[in-house]
Amino acid sequence: MHHLLRGLPFAACALLALARPAGAQANEVPHIETKGARHALIVDGAPFLMLGAQINNSSSWPAAMPGVWPAMEAMHVNTVEAPIGWEQIEPEEGHFDCAAVDLLLEQARAHKVRLVLLWFATWKNTNPQYAPSWVKLDNARFPRMRRADGTFHYALSPFAAATLAADSKAFAALMRHLREVDPQNTVIMVQVENEPGTYGLARDHSPEANKAFAGPVPEALRKRTGKGPGSWSALYGRDAELYFHAWSIARYIDQVAAAGKAEKPLPMYVNAALPGSPFTWQDPATYASGGPANTVIEVYKAAAPHLDLVAPDIYTTAHKDYTGFLDSYERADNALFVPETGHARDYARFFFEAVGRGAIGWSPFGIDRLRYLPSYPLTSKLNDEALAPFAANYALFGQLARLWPRWALAGKTWGAAESEDPADGHRQVLDLGRYRAEVSFGRGDWGAGEAKGNDWPKGGVAIAEIAPDEYLVTGHFARVEFALRDPARANLILDRVEEGHYNDAGNWVFERVWNGDQVDWGLNFTAANQVLHVKLASYPIR
Ligand code: DGJ
Repeated sequence: MHHLLRGLPFAACALLALARPAGAQANEVPHIETKGARHALIVDGAPFLMLGAQINNSSSWPAAMPGVWPAMEAMHVNTVEAPIGWEQIEPEEGHFDCAAVDLLLEQARAHKVRLVLLWFATWKNTNPQYAPSWVKLDNARFPRMRRADGTFHYALSPFAAATLAADSKAFAALMRHLREVDPQNTVIMVQVENEPGTYGLARDHSPEANKAFAGPVPEALRKRTGKGPGSWSALYGRDAELYFHAWSIARYIDQVAAAGKAEKPLPMYVNAALPGSPFTWQDPATYASGGPANTVIEVYKAAAPHLDLVAPDIYTTAHKDYTGFLDSYERADNALFVPETGHARDYARFFFEAVGRGAIGWSPFGIDRLRYLPSYPLTSKLNDEALAPFAANYALFGQLARLWPRWALAGKTWGAAESEDPADGHRQVLDLGRYRAEVSFGRGDWGAGEAKGNDWPKGGVAIAEIAPDEYLVTGHFARVEFALRDPARANLILDRVEEGHYNDAGNWVFERVWNGDQVDWGLNFTAANQVLHVKLASYPIR
């Protein structure tokens, strides 16, 4: 049926509405819920933690699917992030073809996983390469940005009304199709564009852009940044071009998102190519200027109300930088989500850090068996051995995918990832309120030995408060020791440490009590997937 539909006019995507599965009911559309500074992705009416993996850029074609699913199964994901290119669904103007979407939906359902679709359109890593030929080859109708000397840059201009209209129309067709054929919400979130912006150019210098840059800063932005009226240069100085470009691209993407949301209001976000460090200023022309980098989150918040969140693609294994980027995106007005991170083994530990902070999802990039040359900085060879640390995390958290995000939304979760920097002492202290949890790495198998760090940075811990004085504790390659925040007032005692697991109904299934050697030197996590319930108590000092 799919190939028969290829090339049919506009209705071809919508026609597939006839393919609605018998008896499928329209369920509550996924959305983001916020409580205080924490957030949850609500799927089927309840919080859902995305244990994700993103397939390679060229892997969402029907012929590639057999190379996708074995990797997803090995990794125990519950969510697959898959691109849908504009060229795939509108190869000729006005002729829509959603066959690739339908196959993804069908196979995701068969594998009992959810989808995040990535709309590769005007900007994919800033480039228009996923726009159909009728767009990317028609520079008169769909103009590129200009450099200061008037020459064309490779990226499409956000000031071109025709490009915005065409992208919005195609995206709306995709979202309308989802409304028609996905009442059960297999697709739970949509990324609008991919790492937008420009490399090697801080902002567009087309005549329209120059006119806007010379004009006043829009009120929504200057109020948000606490400024009175003025020009971009007067208000933002060194950052004027960066802010202007981010505003221009964010306004464009917001309108694409709005067109899609009018058809089906799924949560929508944009991902960011980040500068080299979260701590130092970098010339915007040296990174993806205009994208939702950590430097311009305020601009995106002011410019793009139809985006539920902006999200960092984190490709550094340096603990300080990774956690620095998480700090930037973990905000009361922005749900933390890591839609891309590296799949080399040193990245796996950051899963614990992210979910501890209440991330709604986390997803290594480039997961499938399609034998592409790994792209920088993805250097690991993708086989089951390389995926093992990630697979172990997801096997551990599969049972918690519905429970963890409830505790996270309530602000009752904490996490730690091992730092590779010896200056950090191979220890971290988590502040749980009444209690502290000291997490240390590389203590040896047993005993009071110094924390030396693991043979490679592989340790991680996640803790949730599940009842007063009661904590769920889990992790890999780490020791956890509890202490009272104020040890002068009472002595801490472990009342009971249970190991167990959660069954499919979400109920705790007790397996055994850890005591004696298993608690005398802290709670020690190895490669084994172990979940503990720890009940703390105290007795008086005198
Ligand atoms: C970030 C992009 O968003 C992905 O599509 C992919 O190109 C990766 N970089 C790395 O190769």
